[in-house]
Amino acid sequence: MVSHDILIVGGGLAGLAAALTSDPKLKVAVLSKVHPVRSHSISAQGGINAALANNPNAKDDTWEKHAFDTIKGSDYLADQDAVELMCKLAIPLMYELDHMGVPFSRFPGGVIAQRPFGGAGYPRTCYAQDRTGQVLLHTLYEQCVKKGVVFYEEVLVTSLVVRDGRCVGLVAYDMGTGEIRSFAAKAVIFGTGGYGRIFKLSTNAYINFGSGIGMAYRAGIPIKDLEFVQFHPTALYGKNILISEAARGEGGYLINNKGRRFMEDYTPTVMELAPRDIVSRSITTEILKGNGFENAYVHLDLRHLGREKIEKRLPGIQDICIHFAGLDPVDTPIPIQPAQHYSMGGIDVDKDCASPVKGFYAAGECACVSVHGANRLGGNSLLDAIVFGKIAGLSASRFINEGGFAGSKDAEIDGEAGRLTSDFEGIRKRDKGHNVYRLLNDLKILMSDKAGIYRDAKQLREGIDGLGRLREAYKDACIYGSCTRFCQEFVTLVEFDYMMDLAEAILRGADLRTETRGSHFRTDHPKRDDESWLKHTLAAYTEKGPVFSYRAVNVDKYKPQERKY
Ligand code: FUM
Repeated sequence: MVSHDILIVGGGLAGLAAALTSDPKLKVAVLSKVHPVRSHSISAQGGINAALANNPNAKDDTWEKHAFDTIKGSDYLADQDAVELMCKLAIPLMYELDHMGVPFSRFPGGVIAQRPFGGAGYPRTCYAQDRTGQVLLHTLYEQCVKKGVVFYEEVLVTSLVVRDGRCVGLVAYDMGTGEIRSFAAKAVIFGTGGYGRIFKLSTNAYINFGSGIGMAYRAGIPIKDLEFVQFHPTALYGKNILISEAARGEGGYLINNKGRRFMEDYTPTVMELAPRDIVSRSITTEILKGNGFENAYVHLDLRHLGREKIEKRLPGIQDICIHFAGLDPVDTPIPIQPAQHYSMGGIDVDKDCASPVKGFYAAGECACVSVHGANRLGGNSLLDAIVFGKIAGLSASRFINEGGFAGSKDAEIDGEAGRLTSDFEGIRKRDKGHNVYRLLNDLKILMSDKAGIYRDAKQLREGIDGLGRLREAYKDACIYGSCTRFCQEFVTLVEFDYMMDLAEAILRGADLRTETRGSHFRTDHPKRDDESWLKHTLAAYTEKGPVFSYRAVNVDKYKPQERKY
């Protein structure tokens, strides 16, 4: 049994930010499924929002305007007090990151450069070329090493241990040794990221199975607003690699097979820089109307930006296109299609990142505070991860320092580890059964077909039925390989169980929500319905499936209006 004061699960930006603000007198450790700098935060490309007003076209930008854009972009489902907190903290955060050594791109004169992003009234996205997540992650990791944070790498957390309403530790599969290990803690923080790989087309890393959200759900913490799934408008066709919104922020055009900038039919004032839910739907509609190429994609055209601008501002995009599509965007349009990108919903936490279970906190994409509501604006995810990661570290430290814990319950954690070990051994003894990779593939197809950009009751219920069949099949899933170390079949088997729970919460939550809001577009209920649905969805785990309840949205400042762009 290993004991720490604070255990942070996830080595991405939320987890590392939490480690940095945790009280240095406490014994803090980060457990990560991969080396921390391989966490999915590294894939974030375009930037991080803060109303610094550095861009010559943004001299009167303020954090209040940032908050308003975020709330409007969320289709009024974000909690306005939480959004204000995030946007206000964004400004000092950029200077703090700058002083830590983040190599932001600069305007002449040396101030941090800022570019336009979708749904934003001003160019307020700070960036480092198109590798913003990478430089942030490396810098925060360096700071953690400097602070002496302990890292357990290539360790998959498999379950949370909660007793008497208190989180007392967790159980994990140490991939390097093949052992199931117990970890005791006075507080646990999850920064475990999203569940993108539940979908077939996703910009997410192959590690993004969302099991952290599932573990919290099984441990008795509700999950919030899971039906809101973000589809990024521009993923490289056939490869699903993110082609940053920065490409449109820098002036890229979306072009259909008639050679037209079709966004003028949907959002003529802001064109390609509407919020992501709207642009993804517009692209899908164009393709469905027969205006796509090969009935599957449209073009993102950067040619008019010129070689110099592309090489200076979008070198990563150019590299991706050359290596994965065999084309140079300097002279050839990029084939793109929408793909799952982000989860607006997640573990239900408050503005202090605290959950209803004492000693358990969550931040970043796995959590839902909620600052993104029904649709997140580009550039707000890195911000959310760092702002609320920092808050989670402070909250967990305060909880411990104020004596909110009652000591660990080692025997219970060991008991949980023992149960998992014998389950694992039991599964290993099976010599036939369903291949878990096939089940995973079926789940991805089901979710993409039944819970995609356009939804209706018939599809969603077909999805629920299909998921029931997958659950049955999973009961006799088999591990065919013989390894115990780095056993990816075991990893997938453990995570798949949680993925099915999340898929069910998405499908059932989406079926119940008979309105259209942000990313959740119901063709059979195409209007937003504030009277009935201006509320958060909460799903609580039971063995028979999720039990749903609803909570009012904080709309204290801005009364919901029709979104016009
Ligand atoms: O398009 C992008 O660069 C992604 C940014 C984000 O998801 O915030």
